[in-house]
Amino acid sequence: MIIVAPVYYLGQQTTLKLINDRMLSIQNDSEEYFKNKQCVIVVPHTIKDWEGYAREATMHFARFLGLKVTGTLVVNKTLPGDVLDEDSLTKIKKLTKSLVDNSTVDFSDPTLAYCPDCDSSLLQIQRNGRWRCIMCGSVGKWQVKDGEFFMNGTSEVERFSCEGMKEHGHVLTEVKEEYIRRRKAVAANQELYKEFDYWIKLQTRAKTLDCN
Ligand SMILES: Cc1cc2nc3c(=O)[nH]c(=O)nc-3n(C[C@H](O)[C@H](O)[C@H](O)COP(=O)(O)O)c2cc1C
Repeated sequence: MIIVAPVYYLGQQTTLKLINDRMLSIQNDSEEYFKNKQCVIVVPHTIKDWEGYAREATMHFARFLGLKVTGTLVVNKTLPGDVLDEDSLTKIKKLTKSLVDNSTVDFSDPTLAYCPDCDSSLLQIQRNGRWRCIMCGSVGKWQVKDGEFFMNGTSEVERFSCEGMKEHGHVLTEVKEEYIRRRKAVAANQELYKEFDYWIKLQTRAKTLDCN
């Protein structure tokens, strides 16, 4: 499988999020839906250094579907045909070939630190010498030795395994059941706020935004 989705406002293209947001119905059928089907990802974007978290979000979109991500490529290209330059074509060919021979392609940036478990570059660097991957939940320690950044440690958390998916679905189902158990108390709480009118109504015509 090949997923290609552009960067919108530093993030994941919305159609993918829409699918993810309806994932529970797929998971309820079977958490093994696409299990281990190989997938490569291409994320085009336009503004240099404005790729945001689209790579990570798209990667995890695939993982929530149970796909096995074996290559990601972020390209600073926009218009149709822009990716036909030699460098992009070579990389894209590598990705497609990897789907044929079941291999993994590594386009990681050697100057960055990645999560050893899920390959995300979105790491929380904590002041107490620890790090946490906000995508897969792995944790560990970091240190700087001779001017070089080192990380170690991984975790047992496997959000994208069948067990992890099951757990996610289970928690959400519990929340629904909790709501059903407490719905009268919840409704009584809502009742307390019904008389307030929170809507902000325009008194005058809105002024044009002044960005200066
Ligand atoms: C609403 C919108 C937001 C965008 N935000 C970003 C952005 O944050 N960073 C970036 O590099 N490119 C951004 N772009 C550029 C797109 O990544 C680029 O135009 C892409 O090729 C659009 O693909 P599409 O034509 O399939 O929508 C944005 C484009 C649109 C339309």
